[in-house]
Amino acid sequence: QVAKAGEAIERTIGPGVVSRIVGDVYRLCLPDDSGTLADYIPELAAVQPDSFALCLATADGRVYGTGDLDASFTIQSISKPFTYALALADRGTEFVDARIDVEPSGEAFNEISLDPVTERPRNPMINAGAITAASLITGADAAERFERVRRCYSRFAGRELRMNEAVYASEARTGFRNRAIGYMLRSFGIIDSDPDEAVDRYFRQCSLDVTCHDLALMAATLANNGRNPVTGERALSTALTERVLSVMTTCGMYNAAGDWVTSVGLPAKSGVGGGIVAVLPGQIGLAVYSPRLDAHGNSVRGVAACRELSRRLELHFL
Ligand code: DON
Repeated sequence: QVAKAGEAIERTIGPGVVSRIVGDVYRLCLPDDSGTLADYIPELAAVQPDSFALCLATADGRVYGTGDLDASFTIQSISKPFTYALALADRGTEFVDARIDVEPSGEAFNEISLDPVTERPRNPMINAGAITAASLITGADAAERFERVRRCYSRFAGRELRMNEAVYASEARTGFRNRAIGYMLRSFGIIDSDPDEAVDRYFRQCSLDVTCHDLALMAATLANNGRNPVTGERALSTALTERVLSVMTTCGMYNAAGDWVTSVGLPAKSGVGGGIVAVLPGQIGLAVYSPRLDAHGNSVRGVAACRELSRRLELHFL
C-alpha cells in the first residue's frame, strides 16, 4: 500500500492511548514536506516522496502503527547495527574490537578516514566500520556469507527479507567512494580478505527491502534483549544486544548524534532510504519511514516524529 501524493493511508493497529498518540504525531508531522530525496544512488530517487509511516512495537509483541506501513524501501544504513551484531556473534567482541573502534566520529557517514592513533575505523556506523564489519561475516563462500546476513536480519524482522535488485545494481554501478574505503581498509590491514567482496556485501545488505512494520519489529527485538517478541526466535544474545545499543546511542545518528540524544534520548539508527529506528531498551522499538532527508541524511519527518513521540510517551532515557 503506497499513498498517492499527500494522501496517507491511515491504519491504526490496536486500541488505546498509544494508538491515539501515534495517530496524533502522524497528523502533526504529515504536512512537513521539506527535505529532499537521496539521489546519489540514482535508484533511491525512485520512491514515492510523500510516503509516511509510523510504527511502534513493544518488547512483548504488541504493534501500533499508522500510515504507509507496508510501503517497502531499502534499509540502507539501518543495516549497520545488524551486520555489526552478526560480526560480533561470528568473531567475538575482542576480535571485532581490534578492528573497529566504538568512538563517535562526528563525521559524515561516508568519510574516507581512520582514527589517526589506532588506525581503525572510528565506529561501525560509519561506512569504514560497516564495510569492515561486513568483511568479518563467516561462511563457506561469498554467497553463503551474504545469505547469513540476510537470514540474520530476517530473524530480527520475523519474516524473510529480500534484496531490491534495482537499488543494488544502482549502488554497485556508482559506489566508487565505498570502494575507495574498502581499498583503504585493505591497505591498512583492517580487512585481510578481498575488499571488493566486503564492499559488495555492504551494497547488498543496504539494498534489503523492508517496511516500517519490519523496522519496528527489528527495533523491538533489540528492545527485547535480542529475542523477536512476535516469533520468539532469538536473533542475538543479550550481551551483544547491549553492546549494539550502546554503539547506536553514541554513533547512530552521525554528526547529528548529540542533538538526537538531547532531544530524543534513545539509541537509534537512520538510513538514506528514509527509515529511522529507535529503541527504548526493555520496552519499545520505534520505526518511522519518510524518504525526504535533512542535511545530515536523516528523514525530516522521521526525526520530528521520534522527537514528538519521545516527548509524549516519555521515552527519553539517556
Ligand atoms: O553507503 C552508502 O552509500 C549507502 N548505501 C548507505 C548510506 C546510508 O544510508 C547513510 N545513512 N544515512
